Amino acid sequence: MRKEPEIKGDRDHKTINNLTIRPEELKDYAKIVLINNLAFAQKNEAKLIEKIRQSDRYIRELSLVAVLDNKVIGHIMFSYIDLIAEEITKVLALAPVAVLPEYQKQGIGSLLVKTGLEIAEKLEAPMIIVLGHPKFYPRFGFELAVNYGIKSPFDVPNDTFMVKFLAQNSKNYRGKISYPSAFNNV
Ligand SMILES: CC(C)(COP(=O)(O)OP(=O)(O)OC[C@H]1O[C@@H](n2cnc3c(N)ncnc32)[C@H](O)[C@@H]1OP(=O)(O)O)[C@@H](O)C(=O)NCCC(=O)NCCS
Repeated sequence: MRKEPEIKGDRDHKTINNLTIRPEELKDYAKIVLINNLAFAQKNEAKLIEKIRQSDRYIRELSLVAVLDNKVIGHIMFSYIDLIAEEITKVLALAPVAVLPEYQKQGIGSLLVKTGLEIAEKLEAPMIIVLGHPKFYPRFGFELAVNYGIKSPFDVPNDTFMVKFLAQNSKNYRGKISYPSAFNNV
């Protein structure tokens, strides 16, 4: 029988017994494919992860797995994308994040995001971009990118394209985001 994780704390501070967040390892790759295929009900995200891994945009310490009782049940990836203005600035993209359907809504996705953000803050990038659900990401400090002159390359609703600044002075950046070709079919 599956052991239910015991969750303590409120939305912002959840501690889940026996849950570990750690960088991915080679032995996790097949499980990461499975988690993404099941969570998204399509194969595009798993393919995206594999393409990013093979590219110079990959950041191993920011491809994280959630492990519960030795079982990999969630995954998040951050990788480098470009902010194009007069100069090109490397920024971070949060994509994708997935938790096995039977473990969703227990705080695991939030823990993956928060752990990733803590690691991202130690890197040089000025900001993180996410294209995602407008109710989920603002709780981690993401704001509407359009309000800061950061444009999406895709025609998406403004409230789904969000930015989190990693330093106060990075709010001065403006420009248009450019995703590497790995993202073409997502
Ligand atoms: C998004 C995802 C990783 C969140 O993981 P999780 O472990 O369920 O997250 P948490 O339990 O920490 O938080 C769940 C909250 O996020 C909300 N949420 C997150 N993504 C959502 C989405 N795409 N649509 C609707 N609600 C979403 C849930 O409604 C819930 O809100 P609540 O706290 O007000 O109840 C998980 O739901 C998942 O794998 N979804 C399928 C893949 C996906 O859509 N990935 C994100 C693309 S933007």
